[in-house]
Amino acid sequence: MSGKNLVWHQATVSREARQRQNGHKSAIVWFTGLSGSGKSTLAHAVEDRLHKIGCRTFVLDGDNVRHGLCSDLTFSNRDREENIRRVGEAAKLFLEGGVIVLTAFISPFRSDRERVRNLVLHGDFMEVFCKCSLEICERRDVKGMYKKAREGKIPEFTGISSPYEEPLNPELSLETGNLSVEESVSRVIDMLTERGVINIPS
Ligand code: ADX
Repeated sequence: MSGKNLVWHQATVSREARQRQNGHKSAIVWFTGLSGSGKSTLAHAVEDRLHKIGCRTFVLDGDNVRHGLCSDLTFSNRDREENIRRVGEAAKLFLEGGVIVLTAFISPFRSDRERVRNLVLHGDFMEVFCKCSLEICERRDVKGMYKKAREGKIPEFTGISSPYEEPLNPELSLETGNLSVEESVSRVIDMLTERGVINIPS
């Protein structure tokens, strides 16, 4: 379908020009993990910290995106793949827009995450694994969904009746079950500093 009778229109304002104006580089910070592992909390907390130091940021969050852009999708393997494909493309647009985009999706399949990684230049995609055991996520059960999933009321629930494939080589792995939000935020900020996305004078 794509590529037929279409010509790419080159932007007049380049990513580089936007980055220069912003005073930082753009990047995709991709949080992955089980439901309740802290992805959204962390993404928003990192955004808050970055915003306060003058960075341009945006959070793409699973629960929100599934109300709009992906409202037609279910939780079948195929639809999850499509969900992540769309979010990857959206994140790439933010990247071109000079923004540090933080995504919070379970994104349970390695191949889907790798596809997003390969969609952008090496180094633009940083995978952050919110490593929290199913036991802890289920004990927290913030949205009450694990209980319902155990009762068979939610089919194909990640960790219960649908798989989660852990990252093999993430840029950052955070034990979100043990670390405080503040500690986790600092680790992400350190990563962004070390990788030259932001430049915080010490
Ligand atoms: S993903 O697998 O396609 O990446 P996504 O991050 O968009 O998932 O959405 C996950 C959120 O949807 C969960 O945090 C939970 O609130 C809700 N949800 C509803 N049904 C399911 C399900 N079957 N499996 C996982 N999450 C579900």
